[in-house]
Amino acid sequence: MLSLYDLTVEMKTEPLGLDEKIPAFSWKLKSERQKVTQQTYRLTVTDGAKTVFDSGLMKSEQSVFVPYGGEALKPCTVYTWMVEVSDGTEKAEAGSCFETGLLDGHAFEGYADWITHPLPAEETASPVFSKIFCVEKEVRRARLYATALGVYEAELNGTKLDDTYFAPGWTNYHKRLQYQTYALPLDHGVNELRFTLGKGWYCGALGFNPMPNNYGDKTALLAMLCIDYEDGSREIMGTGETWQVSEGTIRFSEIYDGETQDTTLPEKPLGMAIRYEHGFDTLIGQENEPVRCLKKLDPVKSFVTPRGELVYDFGQNLTGWVEVQITGKPSQKLTLRHAESLDENGNFYTENLSFAKATDTYVLNGEAQTLRPHFTFHGFRYLQVEGLGEGQEAVFTACHLSTDLKETGSFDCSHPLVNRLQQNIVWSQRDNYLDVPTDCPQRSERLGWTGDASAYSPTAAFNENILPFMRKWLRDLRSEQTPEIGMPQVVPNIMGVGQSGAAFWGDVATILPWTLYRVYGDKRVLSEQLESMKIWVDFITNQCGENGLWQSGFQYGDWLGLDAEMNGIGDSRKGATDDYFAANACYLWSLQILSDTAAILGKKEEEAKYKALREEVLKAFRAEYVTSTGRLVCETQTAMVLALYLNLVEEKDRARIAAMLKTNIDAHKTHLITGFIGTPYACLALTENGLHDLAGKLLLQEQNPSWLYEVKMGATTIWERWDSIQPDGSFNPANMNSLNHYAYGSIGNWLYTKLAGLELVEPGYKKFSVKPQFIRGIEWVKLRYDSVYGPIRVEWSCRDKMIRVEVEVPANTTALVTLPEKEETLELGSGVYTFEYPTETDLYLAKYSMEMPLRILMEHPIGKPMLSQYAPEMAENRMLEYVIDEPITALLAYAPQIKPLFEAIIGAMNAAEG
Ligand code: BGC
Repeated sequence: MLSLYDLTVEMKTEPLGLDEKIPAFSWKLKSERQKVTQQTYRLTVTDGAKTVFDSGLMKSEQSVFVPYGGEALKPCTVYTWMVEVSDGTEKAEAGSCFETGLLDGHAFEGYADWITHPLPAEETASPVFSKIFCVEKEVRRARLYATALGVYEAELNGTKLDDTYFAPGWTNYHKRLQYQTYALPLDHGVNELRFTLGKGWYCGALGFNPMPNNYGDKTALLAMLCIDYEDGSREIMGTGETWQVSEGTIRFSEIYDGETQDTTLPEKPLGMAIRYEHGFDTLIGQENEPVRCLKKLDPVKSFVTPRGELVYDFGQNLTGWVEVQITGKPSQKLTLRHAESLDENGNFYTENLSFAKATDTYVLNGEAQTLRPHFTFHGFRYLQVEGLGEGQEAVFTACHLSTDLKETGSFDCSHPLVNRLQQNIVWSQRDNYLDVPTDCPQRSERLGWTGDASAYSPTAAFNENILPFMRKWLRDLRSEQTPEIGMPQVVPNIMGVGQSGAAFWGDVATILPWTLYRVYGDKRVLSEQLESMKIWVDFITNQCGENGLWQSGFQYGDWLGLDAEMNGIGDSRKGATDDYFAANACYLWSLQILSDTAAILGKKEEEAKYKALREEVLKAFRAEYVTSTGRLVCETQTAMVLALYLNLVEEKDRARIAAMLKTNIDAHKTHLITGFIGTPYACLALTENGLHDLAGKLLLQEQNPSWLYEVKMGATTIWERWDSIQPDGSFNPANMNSLNHYAYGSIGNWLYTKLAGLELVEPGYKKFSVKPQFIRGIEWVKLRYDSVYGPIRVEWSCRDKMIRVEVEVPANTTALVTLPEKEETLELGSGVYTFEYPTETDLYLAKYSMEMPLRILMEHPIGKPMLSQYAPEMAENRMLEYVIDEPITALLAYAPQIKPLFEAIIGAMNAAEG
């Protein structure tokens, strides 16, 4: 039977307060028959009994982002929509609804005024605004529209309005301020609305050297309650000078520093609210999903550190806060500090928080209380508690906060450490997607760093549906651009206009919309961002010298690459890759995306212009950076990765550069030393250039630096640096060292597209390819991805001399499946397909091998004693110290005759561990 499900408007189910004037509708098809494709659809939208849009019968496969095409939508109106679909054999229909928002911020005008408080500038307490009102008739529907300069939490009759936090979110407040819509369950009789305001991103301190008042110096509130009564009448009640203001329990609240609450104090009335001039021009309905508590975690243990600190360990590094349940003594003070890690001596470690104090303080009132902060969040795994009495009971619960995005992907395989890596990737994503995509959640930064988003977005789009979240951020990004700066380095831009765009960071303006279009198939992202892409690319073109290349101005370069000592500029944070090699590589990438975007949007002239410019820049790039015999003048790992991945060299030179890249990685004993620009593409470039096995070895590398090194060191999120924690357990002494930065989590993209083998061919995965590629050490993989058309599943295994592949293809899509060790590609319509066939391939990889460093053998309880027994003079040879970190295979060059002995020792080590 054919059926329809997951009906969404703007990717949201039955949205409330939708402000898109031309919303787009999506639905999914389901059928137990194979090869089901939508042949026709008919979409109708009604307002009560009136049809406001009827698409008519459309012969089309389009089932995602079908635009509304009827009369102008009215504000605050519930619309119902129905869709009928035929697949040529059967028909199905389904319906859903949405409610429009105000559609224009000026709708507040005349009904609600901005209001503020009389507190002096130096006062840190959070103001509370309240209004008591009476409901005397039967209510049919009540909606509250609200926003603030600052952040707010609202209550109706003492109960929080919903389960969301940090409204109205962080946007470029100078140009865009979101309001939220709430459905209110009003009581007959007396009701009270209360709003507590925090400084939040609006006037709280932000930045490396935290500075307050980035957007304004006073918090203010705007709210309007619209009550429709059963008798057909409507009442509107807005904020104004009749609202009361008081000081509540929150005495101090800052995002970086934490919150202080004194629950002993009675609420102190401050008088009536004061009208505030702010206007309504910037108001827009909430665009992205709100922040919610996604998970609660109990401590896995508590202990006293050598320094005497009482510490609770939640077992997971996360973003959020701690809720405490306690019955205290009156005026008892409880102080909660947050940290990501302990130091090498087991003490509470806060050095890497920079200026962030990350401290919540509660003065208790003597009753049973449950307390949590409101307008701050922390990045932590450990909690230090001060002020708890001897034997006093308290329950501490970590609340994990994140923008509530729909999980879309999962990846599992036979390697437990790789599975933990995947979990760490997902944790870092959720931890850093708090209303905007941030760099880190713990230190005095937490900013919308653009380069981190460039590196990580393709991986992110697999794990969660990031479309509304990123579309909102891209609108802010566009609102911050000027021809002079090209691109801000952080969005929202609190660093001012003094800093202009840097390569790769600025390229998020092209890379991200392109990624979103490819993954979700929503062309509107491209049309909305075209101007933004052009501002960025034109900015770069204006920076270029006479040779047509970008070779001046500030660059972050291959940020945090480990070849820093060779960059010749004494900046230990930058890898050795020539800044402008990388900058021009990214310029060429952006030019490619821009001309492709123009082509898709039918903008012929722009397509031709940017295509021609790309050809010129490519010529100049090759003249400057590729020798006549096909080598790169900058032969770092990152430079070679970019040249290969972005197709910057002539086809004839490709093999040589790939070989040089392999030599370089081999010389680094199968390690990457790439930074932010090179790492996301390193394994992709290897696989695409015949070096998939090497990519597999890099994935499974367990020595520093590597992904699994972090996992083995106990990481529960992705670190900012390859070596954020050093092999001896000490912290990297650099002052910039977060344990929760997602850039290097970009290996996820390789896991899903190359190892599992799922790649999109047509936007939205309307057509996709499945081409699993084995590596030794992983015997099975299971991937699930919930595309906009429905669930895709790829499962493969290769063990006991059998290969098994199972693929699920959703209705209305096509898969191109290339099975391992087979030549042909099968084109498959929707359905579930299983393939099973014999093989000689064995993917088993013993834990210990001749390729491991000698040190592992020498430190193993069986290794050294065996070597001492059978070759005592060698075991004691002091020269071994010089090769202790070399692979054992390298030693064989000096003494080939010892090969059988080493093989026997390694065999015994493996046998001892089953
Ligand atoms: C951030 C990065 C960011 C960088 C700019 C750092 O402080 O944490 O992730 O991209 O600055 O290079």
